Amino acid sequence: MRILVTGGAGYIGSHTCIALLEAGHVVTVLDNLCNGSEVALQRVRELADKPLRFVEGDVRNPNDLARTFAGGVDAVIHFAALKAVGESCIDPLRYFDNNIGGTIALMQAMQSFGTQHLVFSSSATVYGAAETMPVNEDAPLGVTNPYGRSKRVMEELIRDLCAANPGFNALLLRYFNPVGAHPSGRIGEDPIGIPNNLMPYVAQVATGRRDHLNIFGNDYSTPDGTGVRDYLHVMDLADAHVRALDFVRGHSGVRAFNLGTGRGHSVLELVHAFEAASGCQIPYRIIERRQGDVATLYADPGRAERELGWTATRTLADMCADTWRWQTANPNGYRPTP
Ligand code: NAD
Ligand code: WQD
Repeated sequence: MRILVTGGAGYIGSHTCIALLEAGHVVTVLDNLCNGSEVALQRVRELADKPLRFVEGDVRNPNDLARTFAGGVDAVIHFAALKAVGESCIDPLRYFDNNIGGTIALMQAMQSFGTQHLVFSSSATVYGAAETMPVNEDAPLGVTNPYGRSKRVMEELIRDLCAANPGFNALLLRYFNPVGAHPSGRIGEDPIGIPNNLMPYVAQVATGRRDHLNIFGNDYSTPDGTGVRDYLHVMDLADAHVRALDFVRGHSGVRAFNLGTGRGHSVLELVHAFEAASGCQIPYRIIERRQGDVATLYADPGRAERELGWTATRTLADMCADTWRWQTANPNGYRPTP
C-alpha cells in the first residue's frame, strides 16, 4: 500500500517507517521537523535499503496536505503531534491548535482525496488516573492534562467521522510507554533539551551528560515505592503498525487497541536494568512526586493479541541495551557532536 506517515521524522514514526518499508509498503512522510530530523529519515532509507519520499510541511496546512496526497495515498498513519505533558499545561492552545487542528485538516484532506483508512497514535494518557489494573480498552476514560485532552478529543473526532462515513475506517492505538531504539543504534529517541521521560533521562545520566536522576517519589503503593509503568520496545510498537494496516483494510468502523507488554516495571527496576545493560552506575536522588503522576499503569494487551495477532516480544533488558547502543553511538542525537 501507499502509506502516508505524518510525523514520520520523529521517534516512533521513524522506527515505524523501517517496518513499513521492510513489509513492502511505499512510504511518504509529511513532517514539519518541529521535533523530527531529516537525518533520521536518511538513516531509515539506508537501513531499509529502500526509497522514502519526504514532504516538509505542516499537517495543518491544506496546501502541504494537497502536495502530499497528490501522488495517491491508500492509508494514513497519523503520528504528527506535540507530546510534552508539562508544556501542554503551560500552553494548552498550542497543543489544541497543533494536535486537534492538525487532525481535522488531515481528515479533510483524506475525504477530498478519497483515502479511507486511518491508524491514529493515541496514548494510555486517555485513561487518566485509571483505577483497575491492567487497563483494558473498555476502562473509563479520563483527562489529567491538556495533552491528554487533545488525544481524547482526537479520538472522538475520528469516531464521529467514522460514524458519518461508513466507508471510513480507523484504529486508535493507545501506546503505553514506548522506549528503546533500532538495534543498529542508528535511529532512536532524540529529545530536545532536558528529557521529560524516564528512559532518555537515564541514558543521559549513564553517559555523564546529566549527573544524576531525580526519582519522583518512593512512597507509592508499589512493591518498591516508585512508579510502575508498562515500558514497550519501539520496534515492537513499529511492528504493531504493520499489523494495524492489515487490520484496518479489512474492518469497517473504528476500534481502539492498547499497545503494551502487559507487565509493569518500577523506576528502580528500570534503573537497575539499565545499569546491567550499560555497565554504568546511575546515581539517583529521591525527590517529591511529580504532579499528575499515578502510582501504577499497565496494559491489558489481550485485544491486540486476539485481533491484530500482535504481542510485544522484547524485554526490558532489550529496551535498555538498544537505548544504550543508540545513546553511545549518538551522544548528541542527530545533531553533529560539537
Ligand atoms: P515525536 O515528537 O518524536 O514525533 C512527532 C513528529 O511529528 C515530529 O517529527 C514532529 O516534527 C512532527 N510534527 C508535530 N507537529 C506537526 C505538524 N503540525 N505538522 C507536521 N509534523 C508535525 O513524538 P513520538 O514520540 O514519535 O510520538 C509520535 C506520536 O505518538 C504522537 O502523536 C504522540 O502523541 C504519540 N505517543 C507518544 C508516546 C511517547 O511516549 N513517545 C506515548 C503515547 C503516544
Ligand atoms: C515514567 C515513570 C515517573 C522521569 C508519559 C506521558 C504519557 C505518554 C508516555 C505520550 C513515572 C518516573 C520520570 C524522571 C522519574 N506520552 N520518572 N524521573 O509519565 O508514564 O508517561 O510518557 O502520550 O502521556 O505522561 O512516562 O517516562 O515521564 O515517567 O522518576 O526524570 O518514571 O514519575 O513513574 P509517564 P515518564
